[in-house]
Amino acid sequence: MLPPLPEVISGLEKIYQAGTVTNMGPLHNELESRLKARLRASNLVLFNNGTLALTAALNALQLPPGSEVITTPFSFAATTHAIVAAGLIPVFADVEPTFFTIDPQSVRQKITSRTSCILAVHVYGFPCFVEELGRIAMQSKLRVVYDAAHAFGVEVHGQPIASYGDANVFSFHATKLFNSIEGGCATVSDPALKDRLKNYRNFGILSEERVASVGLNGKMSEVHALFGLLNLPLLETEMNRRAAVREAYVAELRDCPQIVIPREGDHVLSSRQYFPIRVLKRRDYVYKRLKEFNVFSRRYFFPLISDFECYSYPGLSAGLPVAQQAAREVLCLPFYGDLINGAASRIGRLVREILCEPQGETG
Ligand SMILES: Cc1ncc(COP(=O)(O)O)c(C=O)c1O
Repeated sequence: MLPPLPEVISGLEKIYQAGTVTNMGPLHNELESRLKARLRASNLVLFNNGTLALTAALNALQLPPGSEVITTPFSFAATTHAIVAAGLIPVFADVEPTFFTIDPQSVRQKITSRTSCILAVHVYGFPCFVEELGRIAMQSKLRVVYDAAHAFGVEVHGQPIASYGDANVFSFHATKLFNSIEGGCATVSDPALKDRLKNYRNFGILSEERVASVGLNGKMSEVHALFGLLNLPLLETEMNRRAAVREAYVAELRDCPQIVIPREGDHVLSSRQYFPIRVLKRRDYVYKRLKEFNVFSRRYFFPLISDFECYSYPGLSAGLPVAQQAAREVLCLPFYGDLINGAASRIGRLVREILCEPQGETG
């Protein structure tokens, strides 16, 4: 989703006139406060991407160095990389089969005396079992961080998704529903955490002569903030268009016995960021055949993070049968507002027809 070019050009002219291009300029600060209101967060710190925001959030919690963080292998690489970048050790728990979020039962089984935190992902915007994870964290004195990269605007029982856990992290990458081309933020309820996050994103600099902690460069530029500010008012229309795209897909695919379409209950306000389906047989065949029609679906998330060569230490990837199955079955179909005029129906029909093709060599 890109804002109209004339608006970008006029915004760039204003940046030139103001003469501030980065380091928490006026557009940065405006976007930060607009997002804080939009996500109904008590504190929000803007970052130059979600990965750095995630690393900063783990860092701000001051977890014991080398302690274990229980996380999901069914996510984007950045989730686990952030744990390692923060000097912590990832431990993978399995996911549950309906929405592919981390399975609280499996989390319980992975807790040891070395565990300090749970890093769960609201995958595709499907909310994790937030109540249950909160209970586990309380009982075992663990912190909880949510990777909410996919969950912009999600609500559970009317509560904003940012109200759960110790920290929530959103991504504003170009592929996300709300984007600033590159960008992200962390939300926290504890003001002390907010101060540490702000410090981390600016090299740990406290004042001209004081650097009290190690930090990185997590600052969002004025140009990126401009794109964010211009994209914000486009969101409602895009979400409505995506709701219609979703309906068109569902109408084509709902009676297909090889396909399962996960759907949140009515207590969840959806993010409208992805349209994942489970293809029970021949997922890879459908994926390849769609490409031949110039339809680019994503096997998102395949392979599992625990199968990446950098994380394949003995024991780490064992015992994750549900996540393995999800990685074999999930397919994300193209999902954006411009598919509204018949394209989503045609893609849905195509998927159905492909599944009816006789099983050849590639099938
Ligand atoms: C689940 C998840 N976590 C983290 C990230 C990282 O965000 P960013 O690209 O803004 O660094 C992404 C996507 O990019 C993601 O999908």
